[in-house]
Amino acid sequence: MNLINRPRRNRKSKAVRDSLAETHLSACSLIQPLFVAEKTELIEALFDQRKLSLKDLRALCETRLKNSKIMGVLLFASVDDSLKDAQASEALNEKGLLPEAVRIVKEVCPHLEVFTDVALDPFSSDGHDGLVKNGKILNDETVEILKEMALVHAKAGADWIAPSDMMDGRVGEIRTHLDEHGFEDVSILAYTAKYASSFYGPFRAALDSAPSFGDKKTYQMDFRNKTEALRELSEDLLEGADMVMVKPALSYLDVIAKFKDNSDVPVAAYNVSGEYSMVKLAEREGLIDGQAVQNEILVSILRAGADVILTYSALEVEELLSL
Ligand code: PBG
Repeated sequence: MNLINRPRRNRKSKAVRDSLAETHLSACSLIQPLFVAEKTELIEALFDQRKLSLKDLRALCETRLKNSKIMGVLLFASVDDSLKDAQASEALNEKGLLPEAVRIVKEVCPHLEVFTDVALDPFSSDGHDGLVKNGKILNDETVEILKEMALVHAKAGADWIAPSDMMDGRVGEIRTHLDEHGFEDVSILAYTAKYASSFYGPFRAALDSAPSFGDKKTYQMDFRNKTEALRELSEDLLEGADMVMVKPALSYLDVIAKFKDNSDVPVAAYNVSGEYSMVKLAEREGLIDGQAVQNEILVSILRAGADVILTYSALEVEELLSL
């Protein structure tokens, strides 16, 4: 054949492929979610992930995290049912698990960025992200609690507040509240397009935080929508978000790409629990090479336009990258 263009020439050796690669996965764009609890326990739904006691969190910081080059950790608290109530009061406990965990990570690993999840569901006996009245999720009353919760985390030393609740107006209220208390350097990672997704199953099993009634569709987004995500994006940008998130990631690559084109702040994507566990399960069944598939997934999320990825595989991927 008399072909002038032979695209295969640009794939002919590893050296050519590596130098021409358009997307690069590196540890510094990964954030590892971590769960803290009263006692250390394997999270079966999340395979190798563990809930860590504060003592074991400190040990992880002193060993593995101390030399880690990931961007940081996102902290979640898994509290005992006896501490959950309708007001989610434990969310405001300055000596609660989450603020204590923040203090430990910042003390031992000051080089890591500490993100905290702000939403009521892990502390609410209703398992909803907001206060419930007559079967409805209240917006403005919830935001009043969320901004106090954000302040508790900021006082403990959190670098980034990550509201995952999807109440209207919470980014702006949290921003103002933090500023009024002298925390203008604390950043906000907004869960901007957080979809009502069935991919959160293993996470809810881990925190025992599934809603006690109904679903989250009156606050989390409808997965059939994309233009609506742009509306959420403009609100969060106006309200002062420093980084905007799309969640889940893998089934929402089109939304990530749209955010990249329309956002003047960096875009984060959350490779959520269901996405992670599906890969691990298929690997355990011998159907796929789990590490190769996970790598391909993370690269696809970056290729779509994400600047950083929250993933349960962050530390594992960092180890593989350094081989
Ligand atoms: C709580 C919250 C959820 C996740 C992060 N924060 C669950 C939910 O909204 O029900 C899910 C994370 C994951 O599945 O990995 N607001």
